[in-house]
Amino acid sequence: MLLALLALLACASTPSPAPGADHTAAPGADHTAAHDATVRHGFGDVQRWVGVFDDPARDAWQRPVELVAALQLPPGATVADLGAGTGYFNRHLARAVGPTGKVIAVDIEPSLVDHMGARALQEGTPQVEARLGRADDPGLAPGEVDVVLLVDTYHHIDDRISYFRRLREAVREGGRLVVVDFQMGQLPVGPPDAHKIPQDKVLAELVEAGWSDAGSIDLLPHQFVQVMAR
Ligand SMILES: C[S@@+](CC[C@H](N)C(=O)[O-])C[C@H]1O[C@@H](n2cnc3c(N)ncnc32)[C@H](O)[C@@H]1O
Repeated sequence: MLLALLALLACASTPSPAPGADHTAAPGADHTAAHDATVRHGFGDVQRWVGVFDDPARDAWQRPVELVAALQLPPGATVADLGAGTGYFNRHLARAVGPTGKVIAVDIEPSLVDHMGARALQEGTPQVEARLGRADDPGLAPGEVDVVLLVDTYHHIDDRISYFRRLREAVREGGRLVVVDFQMGQLPVGPPDAHKIPQDKVLAELVEAGWSDAGSIDLLPHQFVQVMAR
């Protein structure tokens, strides 16, 4: 049973993509990886990506409740989930910031933004705003957020130094950026190494973009959690 589940979650060999395995060559995946490991996908097929990102089996290794708890978001905080996809984290973030807080769920794919808007109504989370960003601009106002969460999205972003320098302006004094992505090496979930960016490279790029290393949270079995201070 366990072996079957692991096989199902294995990225390269599954006919349909597994959670976090957004790099599979399944029909419609439409992806390319540049030399710098930036990966471009078509994310327009909402139902396809709901099946991947919201697969209940993902919770076992993504641990959304524990991950959001580790962010230590105070009630009333504003958090942006950048590259929010189908909104997998939205209700967890909404619960953490409470009714006086705000969750800005940004994606560059209009159909996913529409989906997240409908999902917020369905989940009864009026503090979630689904927002359309641009590939080169997170679409956040200066000083608008306390914390930015970026899960499995770092490798999709181009021209990262200027992007993350710009993102820093959107974060209030004392705020944080938390990058969650797959560790290098063979894992039961996630993309092949060629499509991953190692944690030390993520850290070096973000320092170059003006962020400070605020440490790493050892929480998830297959992913690193890199925290950066503004
Ligand atoms: C692998 S998915 C991760 C979704 C979500 N974070 C999760 O963990 O379920 C990557 C998402 O990032 C979005 N994306 C890609 N480039 C982006 C950019 N420059 N700004 C914001 N979102 C982006 C894609 O449309 C896609 O929904």
